[in-house]
Amino acid sequence: AHSLVKDTRGRLLRDLRISVTDRCNFRCTYCMPKEVFDKNYPYLSQNELLSFEEITRLTTIFASLGVEKIRLTGGEPLLRKNLEVLVEMLAKIRSTEGEPLDLTLTTNGSLLRKKAAALKAAGLHRITVSLDGLNDNIFKKMNDVDFPVTDVLDGIAAAQEAGFTNIKVNMVVKKGTNDQEIVAMASHFKGTGITLRFIEFMDVGSSNGWNMEQVLPSKEVIARIHAQFPLEAIDANYPGEVAQRWRYVDGSGEIGVISSVTQTFCHECTRARISTDGQLYLCLFANEGFDFKTLLRSDKTDLEIANAVMTTWAGRNDHYSEIRGSNTIDPSSIRKVEMSYIGG
Ligand code: GTP
Ligand code: 5AD
Ligand code: SF4
Ligand code: SF4
Repeated sequence: AHSLVKDTRGRLLRDLRISVTDRCNFRCTYCMPKEVFDKNYPYLSQNELLSFEEITRLTTIFASLGVEKIRLTGGEPLLRKNLEVLVEMLAKIRSTEGEPLDLTLTTNGSLLRKKAAALKAAGLHRITVSLDGLNDNIFKKMNDVDFPVTDVLDGIAAAQEAGFTNIKVNMVVKKGTNDQEIVAMASHFKGTGITLRFIEFMDVGSSNGWNMEQVLPSKEVIARIHAQFPLEAIDANYPGEVAQRWRYVDGSGEIGVISSVTQTFCHECTRARISTDGQLYLCLFANEGFDFKTLLRSDKTDLEIANAVMTTWAGRNDHYSEIRGSNTIDPSSIRKVEMSYIGG
C-alpha cells in the first residue's frame, strides 16, 4: 500500500486496467452497439496495439510507482492471441513491497473453456465474468448475438475446474430489458462461492443511447433480492472498493452492487486505464488520453516514462460521475472514449 503519487484530489494511483484488444465477439448494446461497431468500424491493426513487451514494460513502471493491481480487459481480452503469454510476463513483476501483483481478468466467458487452464498455469490470480441474465432471449437482448447462456456458465465451470477461486460475475442491469433476471441470477449463484455483482447501466462512450430511465438504482436491486433472500450490508474488502457488499443472512455467500450513477465513488477512485492503442486515461469517461505509446516507442528511459506517469497523474482532476447529475454541463455534449478501448 505504498503509492507514491497523488492527484489534485489527493487520490493515490493504485490500480491499472489494461485493454488488450478493441475487438469482441459480443455486441452488448450498452458497450459496442451493432449499428456503430459493424464491418466498417476501424478496428486497430496489430502494430497500433501495444505489444506484450510494451505492456509489460509499462506495467513494470506503474508497479514501481505503487500500483498493486492489474486488470486485463478489452473488448474481449481472450480474443488477443496468446494472452496467457502476456499473463506469464506480468506475473513476474513485483510491487514496491516485493510482492506479485494482483493479476485479474474481466471476460465475457465465451472462450474460458478453451483458455482457463492455460491462464491459471500462467499465473493469473482472479477472473471476473460478465453475464447479464440466465434466459437466452434476455441475454441476447443485452449482447445482440446468438450465444447460449449455458456456454458462459460452462466457461465459469471451466475456471473453477482450473482452480480459480474468488470468481466474480458482473451483471449490467438495464431497466426494462434484463431487470427481471435479478432475483433468478441471485438465486443461481447463491451458495456457489461465486460473487455476483450488479452494475448500474452507465453512459460510457458516445454511442450507447444511455438515459436515466434505463437505470435501475442499486437500492432497488437490493430491495428485490432482500424480499426473497434476506441481506445485510458488510464492510468493503479494501478502501476504495467499487462494489458495495451485502451478505446473505443465511450464510450462503455475498453479492455486490456497483452504483456509479446513484452513489458515485470518484472521491476514492485510484484507477488508471491504458487503452488498446496505448493512451493513458485518467477516467472511464475521459474524452482523451495521454499518448504513452509514442513515449514507449521513442528513446525515453523507464525513469523518464515513470516521471511522465507521475506528472500526468499529479494533474488529474477527473470526477465525471459526480458532475454527471449537475446542471453546470450537459453530459451529452462531451465526447467520451468508447468502452471497448478502455475496458470498463
Ligand atoms: P475487484 O478487484 O474484484 O474488486 O474488481 P473491480 O470491481 O475493480 O473490477 P471490475 O472490473 O469487475 O469492475 C466492475 C465494473 O465496475 C466495471 O466493469 C465498470 O463497469 C465499473 N467500474 C469499475 N471501475 C470504475 C470506475 O472507476 N468508475 C466507474 N464509473 N465505474 C467503474
Ligand atoms: N454500463 C455499465 N457497465 C458496463 N460495462 C460495459 N459497458 C457498460 C455500461 N455502459 C461492463 C460490462 C463488463 C465490464 C467490462 O464493464 O458488463 O462487466
Ligand atoms: Fe464485449 Fe464486454 Fe463490451 Fe459486451 S461489455 S461488447 S462482452 S467488451
Ligand atoms: Fe473514477 Fe472517473 Fe469512474 Fe469517477 S467516473 S470513479 S473518476 S473512473
